[in-house]
Amino acid sequence: MSLSRDEIIRWENSQLADVYHRRNLAVVRGKDALIWDADGKQYIDCMAGFGAAFIGHCNEKVVKALQTQAEKLIACHGSLYSEARAQLLRKLASIAPKGLDKVFLSNSGSEAVELALKVSRKFTGKKEFIAMMRSYHGKTMGSLSVTWNAKYRAPFEPLIPQVKFVPYGRSEEVRKALTADTAAIIVEPVQGEGGVYVAPEGYLKELRELADRQGALLIFDEIQTGFGRTGKMFALEHWNVTPDILCLAKAAGSGVPIGITLAGEEVMGSLKIGEHSATFGGNPLSCIATVATIDVLVEGRLWEAAARLGKHFSSRLRELGERHRIVREVRGLGLMLGMELRFDVLDILNKMLEKGVLIMNAGVKTLRFLPPCVISPSQLDTVVEKLEECLREKEASIAR
Ligand SMILES: Cc1ncc(COP(=O)(O)O)c(C=O)c1O
Repeated sequence: MSLSRDEIIRWENSQLADVYHRRNLAVVRGKDALIWDADGKQYIDCMAGFGAAFIGHCNEKVVKALQTQAEKLIACHGSLYSEARAQLLRKLASIAPKGLDKVFLSNSGSEAVELALKVSRKFTGKKEFIAMMRSYHGKTMGSLSVTWNAKYRAPFEPLIPQVKFVPYGRSEEVRKALTADTAAIIVEPVQGEGGVYVAPEGYLKELRELADRQGALLIFDEIQTGFGRTGKMFALEHWNVTPDILCLAKAAGSGVPIGITLAGEEVMGSLKIGEHSATFGGNPLSCIATVATIDVLVEGRLWEAAARLGKHFSSRLRELGERHRIVREVRGLGLMLGMELRFDVLDILNKMLEKGVLIMNAGVKTLRFLPPCVISPSQLDTVVEKLEECLREKEASIAR
């Protein structure tokens, strides 16, 4: 029995923990770059499940793979061997950066980071972490400890106390913060939640060198950037730097929950039996969804589509920036783009929704766009058109 829009909203508002800034949209269906609400209204989706539906909603191959697997096996614990899991490992081996051959499978980005932190301590025998200002790595106790925003951290302290935050993009600050007790440096190659900031040229390589010199590990959080989003399969390819540990999630399963932590044999080998586990980690459905997602990505070389469409979209957004003084800056890489305005963007988000376009924010003043790579140039042009209407309306209201 389907629920009406009002019923959906009533149930969620009355029963769910009230921890999301919920938008006035009850989604019932999605296909490629479009979603539909309970009243049948269509939206261009530049949120894509917070980046999870990178190859588009309900990709046919992913849906078929899930249907077939659901009829075969849905539950299989990590203490048993599983065909679906082995298929995923084989697939990951074909795309993983060289040297990152060992895998731990979990259920979310935060969990992928949790293991990265634990294994860093285990392997190095050291305690401290260096994280970046504006970072976002999740909200479980460990991942929250390396997440910058004090609003998220403060109510739950004490967290891991040995975390030092340094400004993003400045390797000399990392050098000053490193000590003999630093277990790892954790960094996003492109900061997402913090406002869409791309690592400056040379930065990640310098971090690699600093970590090596100090005997600390380097963790890349590619939970938002991984699997094609920035125009490469992994963002690290833009700079040719390989970390010791790579955290992945979001787009991997096209919306089916999965967290992936990759590391070298020695680093991952420092964990002993029982030191980490997850009941649903490596679940057959998430494994098979990820196999299908990788197949679709590789067959279509979809990271190239992201690069191409990202170029088109960012140049159109930059044109808007030239026409409207309320735009401060357009930033990003591939189909991970941000537009910083000179004021709070909340009412622009709501107005865009009324106009049939779903976009997000990153912080108070930045509009964030994470569309699927199957979005068409004309859909992107519609997004730009609607956004220009909103900017004009905003300018008119300021002038009044
Ligand atoms: C860079 C980054 N790391 C970690 C996370 C946390 O992932 P999850 O929400 O799946 O726990 C996110 C989620 O937005 C993210 O963008």
